[in-house]
Amino acid sequence: MWYIWLSVAIKSVLALLILAFLTAAIGIYHRIKCKQCDLHSITRRLDGKTVLVTGGTAGMGLEVAKRFARQGARVIIACPFEQEGDNALKQIVNETGNKNVIFALLNLASLSSTREFAEKILTSEERLDILVNNAGVLRPDKMTADGLNFVMQVNYYGMFLLTILLLPLLKKTGSPAEPSRIVNVSSLAHKRGQVPIGNNYRTGIKAYPDSKLCLTIFVQDLAAKLSQAGITNVVVNAADPGIAATGIADGFGKFMVVSRAIMGNFFPSAKQGAQTTIYVSLNEKIANVSGKYFKNCELSEPSAYSVKTANKLWEETVGHVKLSDEKIKKCFENV
Ligand SMILES: *[C@@H]1O[C@H](CO)[C@@H](O)[C@H](O)[C@H]1NC(C)=O
Ligand SMILES: *[C@@H]1O[C@H](CO)[C@@H](O)[C@H](O)[C@H]1NC(C)=O
Ligand SMILES: *[C@@H]1O[C@H](CO)[C@@H](O)[C@H](O)[C@H]1NC(C)=O
Repeated sequence: MWYIWLSVAIKSVLALLILAFLTAAIGIYHRIKCKQCDLHSITRRLDGKTVLVTGGTAGMGLEVAKRFARQGARVIIACPFEQEGDNALKQIVNETGNKNVIFALLNLASLSSTREFAEKILTSEERLDILVNNAGVLRPDKMTADGLNFVMQVNYYGMFLLTILLLPLLKKTGSPAEPSRIVNVSSLAHKRGQVPIGNNYRTGIKAYPDSKLCLTIFVQDLAAKLSQAGITNVVVNAADPGIAATGIADGFGKFMVVSRAIMGNFFPSAKQGAQTTIYVSLNEKIANVSGKYFKNCELSEPSAYSVKTANKLWEETVGHVKLSDEKIKKCFENV
């Protein structure tokens, strides 16, 4: 009998080793493919400008926030964890010497928290030059108090609501010569996504690519809607960070320690993952580019989708986040 168990044990260990080896190989492949962008040439100062980074308290978001702080911006970082936010704030101030950094609580998994946060920004801030929708989660598979899939709400519905609510401030800030910018951090995973029209949700691990596909469609759709409204002083683009080692590895639960070790050692770093987001946020040559998808600091092609799908998704999203037609109209008014 014992030899059967021994053989099972050996097979399990072998399977785990092969899995770890394959994961590391994927990491090395992505590290090689992840081009080093030339961000040194982007020396543009951001003194007097205000930037907001959701999830700017850890991983890639923190790297992006530090870069903005170094270049002199007033930096607002937001996340749902007080302790993480306070630590990140201290770290940014310490490393960059820029004291103009603010942390605010924002839970994108709650429509009311998202509304409260937007209201706070609209009343306390005079301007918003760059909005980086960076916050993203991989799990858990659960429903929120708003009756939406948690991953979909954080990665897409919450971000949609926040972006629309902050649009008036972005419009007020941007000028035709220097439009304000919205940058959505997408993911290659969107290519495996399905649009959850008609509440046709995929749950579990599949909610992630779905949420990123919705986000990618949203970027293009929002750009089209802004352009139709004659608004040229706000641009919106998507940045694909590639597969980088970030806290998102924690989404693997039990295997967190293993996945962290593998990702930390073999995958591109958070700093490398942040490159394209920084490029799309700051590069002066693409000031007027809108509705595009960038990868490795270059224009790239996202998944194709039909206008009909985009319109349906927009309509349903507006319903899910409970935005009235008047409110939407007001946000898109060209004044
Ligand atoms: C940053 O923190 C280090 C270690 O805690 C400290 O020695 C240094 O003086 C701090 N720098 C600034 C600019 O606050
Ligand atoms: C963007 O457009 C504005 C106004 O149309 C123009 O003044 C500016 O030079 C353009 N910027 C770039 C980088 O093309
Ligand atoms: C960014 O996300 C917002 C909110 O989901 C969406 O309205 C917008 O179209 C997206 N923009 C891009 C370029 O993906």
